[in-house]
Parts: sequence; structure tokens; C-alpha cells
Amino acid sequence: MATSLTDDQIRARIDELDRDLGWYQNIDLGRGISTKSRQVWGEDLDHPRRRWGYIEHAVPKDFSGMSVLDVGCNAGFISFEAADRGATDVVGVELKSGYVEQARFCAEVRDQPVDFREMSVYAVAQLDRTFDFVFFVGLLYHCRYIERAVEAVAAVAADTVLCESAIHPDDSEIPLVRHIDRTQYEGPHAAGAARLPGNWHPNMAAMASLFREQGFASVEPAFRDGGRGAGSARR
Ligand SMILES: C[S@@+](CC[C@H](N)C(=O)[O-])C[C@H]1O[C@@H](n2cnc3c(N)ncnc32)[C@H](O)[C@@H]1O
Repeated sequence: MATSLTDDQIRARIDELDRDLGWYQNIDLGRGISTKSRQVWGEDLDHPRRRWGYIEHAVPKDFSGMSVLDVGCNAGFISFEAADRGATDVVGVELKSGYVEQARFCAEVRDQPVDFREMSVYAVAQLDRTFDFVFFVGLLYHCRYIERAVEAVAAVAADTVLCESAIHPDDSEIPLVRHIDRTQYEGPHAAGAARLPGNWHPNMAAMASLFREQGFASVEPAFRDGGRGAGSARR
């Protein structure tokens, strides 16, 4: 049901939801209103629009009749893109309650009935169902237990997982995963250099290997650019 909130009430709620975690994602709420007005972790002000641009070609244009899971959904940007493409059965799971609150507010204002749940990637089996298309975007490299995370995602994926991650630049065929600790920086370790994100950076071969180990027949690279990359794992 369309929201009964006025534009002023929507803006006030955006400000409230900005106070704690901040808006990492910029969600278009229509009426000329969007959620993000400041950087939280150094991301673009229209984040994750650029990241979406890299993976969009690997996403079905029409999700009609398909079920979709968005793991690590944050405020729901990808879930809403799936709903815009005709998906009526969309579930978004997210570890942090504050982001779930943001996502539910956006779903209400956008009038899109996405089912947002506070849940860890390691617990998605509790959904007790499978999905035709799973987005696993921007999360793999944060997972401390990288193999368990892929196993959990694979167990609920009936067909395709689109996995996007920070990627180790080694282009060999040898599957390598680099451990990241707090001493590791992008480029020379100097004032202003950003710490490498997350805990583990697989190279593209390792990303493919992790999914093949879970019974996926093919893992097609979707893009690799600098320290990021994505692959489409298919049953
Ligand atoms: C880098 S953000 C990516 C968000 C979104 N998928 C995107 O691409 O814009 C990672 C998200 O995953 C969430 N997250 C971190 N650990 C998680 C876990 N164990 N289970 C589920 N979500 C998690 C974070 O709270 C955050 O919202």
C-alpha cells in the first residue's frame, strides 16, 4: 500500500535514519527525494550506482516469475532494482538492524513489497527455501569464514549466484585467497592511504573455484576492474 507519509515526514525520517549508521546507499524514493547526502565510508554519493553499472549486464532484464535473494542487502538498492525488473518475490537479508530499518522504510515509500530480514549470510538456510537468482554483492570479502559463506549461499541458490567482491589482482589460474589484516593498505602505506577492505580477497580463479566446489557447473567472469570483480555462478 502506498505510504501515507508526506514529503516533509519522509525527509525527517531520512534524517533520523542517517544519525546512527548513516546512509551507505543512495535510494531513489521518487518525488525528487533520495536518501544519501554524505559519504559514510568514502563511497560515491550515488553509491552503489557505479558498482551496479559493472554488474548490470549479468542481471536478467526481466525477473517476472523469478524469485530473488539479495544477501548483504544494506538499504535495499539491489532488491529494488530486481523489483523494478518485475520480481514480485524478493527477499533481502542484512546483518545490521539499522540497515534493515532503512530498507523497510524505503520499501514502504517506494511501495515495493520486498521482504527484508535481519539475518547473517551464515544463517540463510533458516529461510527454508531456494531462490532462482541470488545477489551476493559486496560481501564475500567481508566474510570471516569465506567457504562457509559460499556454502550457505549455494544451499539456497536454485540457479544463479551473481557474486561481486574485492578481488586479489593475481590473474593466474591458481586459486589464491589473500588474508587482509589491519596493516595492509592500498598502495604504499602512507598517511591518507586507505586500508584494504574486508578480511579475504580471492583472485578470480579462487572465486570460481569456491563456487564450483559447491556444485555450480560454470562460473563466468562478469567484470574485473582494479581491485573488484564479479562472476556469475550457474547450476
Ligand atoms: C559493502 S556493503 C555492500 C552492500 C550492498 N550489497 C551493495 O553492494 O551496495 C556490505 C553489506 O553486508 C552487510 N553484512 C556484513 N556482514 C554480513 C553478514 N555476515 N551477513 C549479512 N550481511 C552482512 C553489511 O552490514 C553491509 O550492509
